[in-house]
Amino acid sequence: MIWYVATLIASVFSTRGTAAQGAHGVREEPRFLTARAGESVILGCDVSPPLDGQQPPYVVEWFKFGVPIPFFISFRFHPPHVDPEYTGRASLHGKASLQIDPVRSEDQGWYECRVLMLEQQYNTFHNGSWVQLTVNGESLRPKWQPIPYVVHDGSLTVLGITRDDRGAYTCRAFSDQGEVLHTTRLLVQGPPYIKSPPENITVNISQNARFTCQAEAYPGNLTYTWFWEEDNVYFTKNDLKNRVRILIDGTLHIFRVKPEDAGKYTCSPSNSLGTPPSASAHLSVQYPARVLNMPSIIYVPRKLPGVIRCPADANPPVISVKWEKDGYPLRVEKYPGWSQAPDGSIRVAEATEDSLGTYTCMPYNTLGTMGQSDPATLVLKDPPYFNVRPGGEYRQEAGRELVIPCAASGDPEIPTITWRKVGKPSKSKHNILPSGSLQFLSLSKEDHGEWECVATNVVTSITASTRLLVIGTSPHAPGNIRVLPSVTSANVSWEPGYDGGFEQTFSVWYGPVLKKENFGPHDWHSMPVSGSQTWLVVPGLEPRTEYQFSVLAQNKLGTGPFSEVVTVNTVVSPLSTPEPQVLLTPPRCLTANRTQHGVLLTWLPPANHSSPVDRYIMEFRLGERWEVLDDLISAAETELMARDLVQSWYEFRVMAVMDDLISESNPFPPTEVTEEGLALPVVAGVVATICFLAAAVLFSTLAACFVNKQHQRKLKRKPGMLALLFTSVSFLLFFLWSWL
Ligand SMILES: *[C@@H]1O[C@H](CO)[C@@H](O)[C@H](O)[C@H]1NC(C)=O
Ligand SMILES: *[C@@H]1O[C@H](CO)[C@@H](O)[C@H](O)[C@H]1NC(C)=O
Ligand SMILES: *[C@@H]1O[C@H](CO)[C@@H](O)[C@H](O)[C@H]1NC(C)=O
Ligand SMILES: *[C@@H]1O[C@H](CO)[C@@H](O)[C@H](O)[C@H]1NC(C)=O
Ligand SMILES: *[C@@H]1O[C@H](CO)[C@@H](O)[C@H](O)[C@H]1NC(C)=O
Ligand SMILES: *[C@@H]1O[C@H](CO)[C@@H](O)[C@H](O)[C@H]1NC(C)=O
Ligand SMILES: *[C@@H]1O[C@H](CO)[C@@H](O)[C@H](O)[C@H]1NC(C)=O
Repeated sequence: MIWYVATLIASVFSTRGTAAQGAHGVREEPRFLTARAGESVILGCDVSPPLDGQQPPYVVEWFKFGVPIPFFISFRFHPPHVDPEYTGRASLHGKASLQIDPVRSEDQGWYECRVLMLEQQYNTFHNGSWVQLTVNGESLRPKWQPIPYVVHDGSLTVLGITRDDRGAYTCRAFSDQGEVLHTTRLLVQGPPYIKSPPENITVNISQNARFTCQAEAYPGNLTYTWFWEEDNVYFTKNDLKNRVRILIDGTLHIFRVKPEDAGKYTCSPSNSLGTPPSASAHLSVQYPARVLNMPSIIYVPRKLPGVIRCPADANPPVISVKWEKDGYPLRVEKYPGWSQAPDGSIRVAEATEDSLGTYTCMPYNTLGTMGQSDPATLVLKDPPYFNVRPGGEYRQEAGRELVIPCAASGDPEIPTITWRKVGKPSKSKHNILPSGSLQFLSLSKEDHGEWECVATNVVTSITASTRLLVIGTSPHAPGNIRVLPSVTSANVSWEPGYDGGFEQTFSVWYGPVLKKENFGPHDWHSMPVSGSQTWLVVPGLEPRTEYQFSVLAQNKLGTGPFSEVVTVNTVVSPLSTPEPQVLLTPPRCLTANRTQHGVLLTWLPPANHSSPVDRYIMEFRLGERWEVLDDLISAAETELMARDLVQSWYEFRVMAVMDDLISESNPFPPTEVTEEGLALPVVAGVVATICFLAAAVLFSTLAACFVNKQHQRKLKRKPGMLALLFTSVSFLLFFLWSWL
């Protein structure tokens, strides 16, 4: 509102002040400005500096020649009043200059700036500063936005067009006569772009589900295709196709969702241009727990552990399963050795005639249950048994034939027999004969190892194992490689692999990890191992470096594969280990002050201590030897009253004690104060003694701080000794002062 007032005052002044000559117009000469349309321009106008240092409030008015009312008025910090023609383009710059951004061709002309000093009644108005603004617009100069495009001769070229370039483009041509505008729309032809992709959803069974997939494209004749997993939703194997609908905007509706509908849904909009994009989301269907395919007969092996399973299906997962046997709730605890596993199945330690009967199960999750299973009859069956078991161990030369027998029977049906290699499966060629025996036509090195014959019938599987030693081969890789690094060496140890039937020797291979580019055993160093030793200390390693180790075995038939590679870092050299920060500096600024009750000793705790100070020790001496005044001063204390000191002068020192820390015992600097120098006559006046006291205290304090400096040295750990650090003060004690 204030600017209205200002305007009012301004117009009052302008009517009567036209004759007054510009006391405040710093520049009388008109200025000339040239600018290009679209640029920013500043029309200068100065305000004369205040005479007394403080700028009085003023109003700035800008006039355009020929228009009687100002188009811009600014009064102090109030928002300026701007003519609609200049709204958003005109602002005050500095004290009174006007910035126009962007300038237009119609802005061209004469401008006048008037500054009105409100608190100075005289000479308040001057004949302004004049500015002539020329806006370059003679030639029609089109101006395109945005700038990165190439404009030539009025044409716009968009290079490397993308989807983002689509939209409205306006061409504008102008001269003093006016301007013309033309807007055109750029459509970018291409494959669709998915604006709102589908999102993961979870629904309850029987509810409807909805996935969005909104795309835009030019040409906009979009068709949306939806896939469930890999299949088009309209051509799925299940009945999903009967319950889906794709809306015109791409949305997929699934009606009365079933658990089987869960999975990944992918939408793919297409306008036949380019590769159609796609976006996927997952549908999760929640439903009460249900039983899928309960078998009508449950086989349990006689006299062997067995399991009665409830094939439950649920989302969220099953939390409990209730069982019934012959129509009554099953109480597992009533059967010795029976238990219910966390998944709800029943573990039977040893199945007997007691367990015969009809079983039903009912699984539950947080949504409840879909009911109980079909009844299943439990049938006891004899497990299969081996007629022929393989022997414990077979030795055969590589390349030769070998048959390992195995045969099993069962009642009534014959069990099926399979063979498997324990650990790493064998890729070599082997057959299972109709009898169940394992046949190798030509043994290979990798057949070496443990094998199992497995006989399976409806109730259970039984296994029999055997060991096959393939002799006449190169050794097998050593196992269990362990490396114990130290600073410059490492102790490598291993467990030998099978020697292939001949005596084997080892070598240890190693190399720094840095050599990545030439990685390979040939780039490594190797060290032979003597005899049958299964460890080796590898010397000459760099400290703190990453090394790799492998062990190789060799026999007269050749070299085995390398063992696994173990990577370790050698240990940091102990010399370069930074010492732990253990620090204790002496107590500071020990002062002594003679009082009526004795000598008051005060000090400051140590500046730095890496653990809490335990206590302080105060000592004193008259001559050479230090004597303990108090060695159990609590760490909380910083002063001590020493009584019964009768001699004329004493030296004091205080030490901090921190466990397990040792200071170097610095020689105590000799006191420079001699007894003679200070032995004043007893008759000395009170004033003199006070001065002396002051001098002595001052000196002592200085001495203490000097000593302090001497002690500010790095401390070293010396185990088994007490840590003592001290600061001291020499204190002169006069008899006379006792009566002060
Ligand atoms: C103001 O100054 C301009 C240019 O110097 C002059 O043409 C005009 O007559 C002056 N107006 C008054 C009222 O003095
Ligand atoms: C599904 O059903 C459960 C239990 O009735 C309810 O708590 C939950 O809100 C339902 N979820 C949805 C998505 O409707
Ligand atoms: C969309 O229109 C273009 C041009 O008319 C045509 O070539 C294309 O086959 C159409 N695509 C679809 C999916 O109808
Ligand atoms: C959607 O669900 C799938 C499968 O459950 C999951 O892998 C994926 O991270 C989920 N995406 C989001 C955005 O939650
Ligand atoms: C190396 O390690 C092995 C096995 O851990 C050990 O028996 C052997 O004494 C060690 N050798 C040295 C020199 O430490
Ligand atoms: C010594 O004690 C007296 C009396 O308590 C006190 O006024 C004076 O400031 C003390 N001087 C110092 C250096 O502590
Ligand atoms: C004490 O600690 C400060 C800050 O941690 C350090 O700047 C200063 O050097 C230390 N003084 C001594 C004597 O170690």
